Amino acid sequence: MKERKFKKVAGFCVAVVCVAMLLGGTAMAAEGDSPFMNLAKKRFSVRQFADKPVPKDLLIKVLEAGNVAPTAKNLQPHRIHVLTKAEDLAKLDTVSPCRYGAPVVLVFSYNSDEEWKHSQEPGVHSGVEDVSIVATHVMLRAAELGLGTTWVNMFRNSQLEKLFELPANEKTVLIMPIGFPAENAKPSRMPTTKKPLDKTVIWH
Ligand SMILES: Cc1cc2nc3c(=O)[nH]c(=O)nc-3n(C[C@H](O)[C@H](O)[C@H](O)COP(=O)(O)O)c2cc1C
Repeated sequence: MKERKFKKVAGFCVAVVCVAMLLGGTAMAAEGDSPFMNLAKKRFSVRQFADKPVPKDLLIKVLEAGNVAPTAKNLQPHRIHVLTKAEDLAKLDTVSPCRYGAPVVLVFSYNSDEEWKHSQEPGVHSGVEDVSIVATHVMLRAAELGLGTTWVNMFRNSQLEKLFELPANEKTVLIMPIGFPAENAKPSRMPTTKKPLDKTVIWH
């Protein structure tokens, strides 16, 4: 009798986990994941940072990952400003609420004269895409090296460009707080909240 009850409970638990995984998509670590998939799943937006500086050689390693990213026609129009000085971080705080106390902020931008422009489709140009791929490489490499990051769009682009006296042809795309995660840093989402593939992939 006891054994039957145990089996029922165990079966119910397995069913709940399976349904949760099906509904939740692929963010859970799975057996046989490659090192890349493990890293991609391990990364999360870090919004609590340790009060600890990031050594410059570590930052260079992170930035080198951005440097090998693909860009349209390999034009590499991206720029990355590395803010570490207290006065620069204080300036940054006046245009964004999203530094989260990080000791370093990367400001990603592109030079609009250098980006690829579609010759037959006016208005189609690659700067934002180029920067996004570079920033994604940076994010993943940072995670690999034990650093935390968050992609931040919530900042006043034009004000930041003015405050840091960027040239008129330099357009900011995102800012990225980066640093060692605080001990209590944790994802703000449940790891199962990614949409399942059939909600985002359309097979033709
Ligand atoms: C284009 C973009 C803009 C984002 N802007 C912000 C932002 O302004 N502030 C913030 O705290 N997080 C921002 N995020 C982080 C997302 O909220 C986060 O990636 C998402 O909730 C998934 O969580 P995860 O990164 O932990 O997987 C942004 C992410 C992306 C890709």
